[in-house]
Amino acid sequence: MTADQLPWWQTGIIYQVYPRSFQDSNGDGIGDLKGVLQRLDYLRWLGIDAIWLSPIFPSPMADFGYDVSDYVNIHPLFGDLEDFEELLHEVHARGMKLLLDLVPNHTSSLHPWFVESRSSKNNPKRDWYIWKDAGPEGYPPNNWLSVFGGSAWEWDEQTQQYYYHAFLKEQPDLNWRNPEVQEAMFDVMRFWLNKGVDGFRVDVLWFIFKDEQLRDNPPNPDYTQHMPAYDQLLPVYSTDRPEVQGITRRMRGVLEEYTGDRVLIAEVYLPIRELMMYYGVDNKGAHLPFNFLLLSLPWDALQIAAAIDHYEGALPLQSWPNWVLSNHDRPRIASRAGAEQAGVAAMLLLTLRGTPTVYYGDEIGMRDVAIPFEEIQDPQGLNMPDKNMSRDPARTPMQWDDGPNAGFTGGRPWLRVDGDYPRRNVQLQKKYPWSMLNLYRRLIALRRQEPALHRGHYKTVYADTQLLAYTRHSEGSDVFLVVLNLTHRPAYFKPQDFTFGGTVEIAVSREREGNKVSGIISLNGDEGLLVRLDK
Ligand code: NOJ
Repeated sequence: MTADQLPWWQTGIIYQVYPRSFQDSNGDGIGDLKGVLQRLDYLRWLGIDAIWLSPIFPSPMADFGYDVSDYVNIHPLFGDLEDFEELLHEVHARGMKLLLDLVPNHTSSLHPWFVESRSSKNNPKRDWYIWKDAGPEGYPPNNWLSVFGGSAWEWDEQTQQYYYHAFLKEQPDLNWRNPEVQEAMFDVMRFWLNKGVDGFRVDVLWFIFKDEQLRDNPPNPDYTQHMPAYDQLLPVYSTDRPEVQGITRRMRGVLEEYTGDRVLIAEVYLPIRELMMYYGVDNKGAHLPFNFLLLSLPWDALQIAAAIDHYEGALPLQSWPNWVLSNHDRPRIASRAGAEQAGVAAMLLLTLRGTPTVYYGDEIGMRDVAIPFEEIQDPQGLNMPDKNMSRDPARTPMQWDDGPNAGFTGGRPWLRVDGDYPRRNVQLQKKYPWSMLNLYRRLIALRRQEPALHRGHYKTVYADTQLLAYTRHSEGSDVFLVVLNLTHRPAYFKPQDFTFGGTVEIAVSREREGNKVSGIISLNGDEGLLVRLDK
């Protein structure tokens, strides 16, 4: 494959839509597919290439759609299959791609498969889930914990066995050792691929296989009280089992039954070495195992510089990197690194080598919103009230304009809108050249235009306790230098063994654009510069 033929998921940018919070079209306070449709021109204007929709399938919403009760339909809150087909058509008509969220590890406890499975011990679907007799004195079969708190085993009175759930008890884990389960989920993929979707983000892929003997997990020697209870044990027997690689490869195989560049993205929170396994032998696993370094590491230039090189250095030959700054499970970048750093973070995300994923709202600098206790919706927050772990703050409605509810809904929003919306919204930021939105848009446009940025090599040139600097270059095109100040204090970029001269093409503070730089660059706090180097 020549450089010109790189697939869209390498050169493009992915945008995550959390459908409940993006745009409501019918006044029920919950975002929907028609709402997404209304905003497609905005996304086109922003310049993104693909939309990933968090789950839109029928669900009792115990975990806001990550508890699917029908994999081949649309939740009435979001619309119906016709709305979906229209959306897909219109996404494609604008030259963009649409990705769905596949949730293969678990179903809803109300999915007909589980309803059957729990109905009796000899139901043909019994073995589709993980059922076990009680241990001695009625205890659960092993010590495994649920991510959302408590034991991962739920006792079923009627059939006198426990079933396993890595998340809520309303999310029983499927038994991926059963070939019927595998085929059923591959058919779910085919259902949507037949409709024309461009790929999937696979939920908790590293969870789907568990130790065949269900051995106890060992205690975590680094556990401290403020950590979630789940972290008391190291989940070595309950996650990241070797068998997952075979299934990933087969999921990839399902995609390859179809024409076009369809993409398999895997949600995997693991250290770099383990993460790399998910590319699969000969890169026949996931195209993009999500790289969550930027949302897991402290906002520290030296640590981030080291992690970028560690990641770059660990990538298997021919595999493609990717970067994520925020998502619906973690605090937004503007709250984690701070509002002043959000522009620097955007420049980092959009100039690193590899596919960036932008979380809705980050492009206008949305922050996490304080949700009063009595308004908390997220089960993770409700189950662990003393740990402040609710994910609601990062899921608040998109701020479109300064009208009621920020233009998100004509009704009562399911989650409160940030009070800052009259001064932080898309409509306003579109108008101001120095807004976060315009910074995103211009970075995206330059990235698309410049081969060095969307496909070129990466090289760290400098890092200290404040600064991170690197170049991007590609044969036959201009070289770019990126200098980022990850602190609020002024800093000097004075590399020892790197001589350069160039022109600032994009700056986090726009005033510096067009400036000539060479030798030493002094940067204000929270400044980031993208410099086109002289030839
Ligand atoms: C990961 C999803 O991103 C998260 O929102 C969900 O709660 C868990 N998987 C369980 O499906």
